[in-house]
Parts: sequence; structure tokens; C-alpha cells
Amino acid sequence: MSRLVTMTVGVVAAVVAALSYSAFSVAADDAKSAGTAKDDAYAAKVWSYMAENGLIGEGRIRSFPFVGSRPHGSIQEFIATEAVIDGQRGRLLIKHNYGAEEALTPKSVYAAGPDENNEPLAIMFQREEGYDPDNNNWFWAEYNPDGSVFNYQGANLSGRAPLCIGCHTPLGGKDREILNGSAK
Ligand code: HEC
Repeated sequence: MSRLVTMTVGVVAAVVAALSYSAFSVAADDAKSAGTAKDDAYAAKVWSYMAENGLIGEGRIRSFPFVGSRPHGSIQEFIATEAVIDGQRGRLLIKHNYGAEEALTPKSVYAAGPDENNEPLAIMFQREEGYDPDNNNWFWAEYNPDGSVFNYQGANLSGRAPLCIGCHTPLGGKDREILNGSAK
């Protein structure tokens, strides 16, 4: 009897393992992945595009700094443009974040040099139809100053990052954009 129970448990465990393995391989592939090597590689392409098109780095295009909120910088610069990544054209939203020091203002933000007080650069790139239809097909990423993907509490912030979507859904509404003022 006890042997039968052990065997049954063993079979159930194997089935559960097989199920979760297949769930994992789908997740790691196309459905809702975030922070995988593939997501980081795509984030690197967006970074290269921004570097080649004067959107980051020395002499980059600037926009007027404004007071923003957490978790992004206390002072921010925002640019909305279009980019072509892997042959696909889409909207690209870029947000430079400053705020390592307290009491920064739009006027004082560059006092120590434009590269001081940096906080992770945040982007949203609108990918092809079907990439993430529930969330307006945005690819999300945050970067360290050297272009590597920012890691927050053990998760690389790239791809369909649940952290980003979790806040941009209630605050940004259907299109998941917050600064455009449409919360619906
Ligand atoms: C806790 C809430 C919250 C989380 C989490 C969050 N954001 Fe945001 N995000 C905001 C707010 C609020 C704004 C509007 C600017 C401001 O006031 O900071 C914003 C604006 C933006 C913008 C400018 C476009 C827009 O939607 O207005 C980008 C790009 C952006 N966030 C990227 C990201 C990325 C990438 C992540 C995840 C790595 C992320 N955000 C996580 C709250 C959040």
C-alpha cells in the first residue's frame, strides 16, 4: 500500500515537473518574457540606436528638464520619437532621470555636470503587433550609464517587465503612457 502511494506521488511529481517545464519554456520563449538574455540583447539594440542617433551620450538632443516623481528621477527629461530596430519602425519614448542628490531643481540639475546625479535611463519602444497586445506592444527597459540593463532586486528590467507594466497600467491607462495625460 505504502509502496503504491509512493509510486503515485512519484508519477504526479513527474507530471507536475513536465507541465511546469513546458510552461517555463514557453515563458522563456515568446510569451511575456522579461529580463532574459534575449530581452537584454534587444535592449542593447535600442541602446545602439539611441547612441547612433544622438539620443544619449555626449552632445545628445536635450529637452527641457521638469520635476518628475518616483520611482523615476526627481528631475527628468523626456523625448518622444520614432526608431527602427531590426527593420521595425515604432515609437520610442526616452526618459533621462536625475535625482541622486536631494533638492535638485530643473535649474540646478546640471550644476555638477550633465552626467552627475544620473538615475537609470528608462525607455519604452513600441514593437510589432502581437508582441504584447494587452499592453500596447511596449518593450520596456532601464539602463545603467554604460548601457547594460539595470537590475532591480534580482530582475533585469528589459522586455515585458511586470514592474513597469504594473504601475503604468493604473497610471497610464490603455496605452500605458503616463505623460501624455490620458489615464484611460
Ligand atoms: C511605481 C510607478 C512606476 C513604475 C514601477 C514605472 N514607472 Fe515609468 N513612469 C511613472 C510615472 C509617474 C511617469 C511620469 C513621469 C513622472 O512623473 O515620473 C512615468 C513615465 C515613464 C516614461 C515616459 C513615458 C510615459 O509613459 O509617460 C517612460 C519611458 C517610463 N516611465 C519607463 C518605465 C520603465 C521602463 C519602467 C520599468 C523598468 C517603469 N517606467 C516603471 C511611474 C512608474
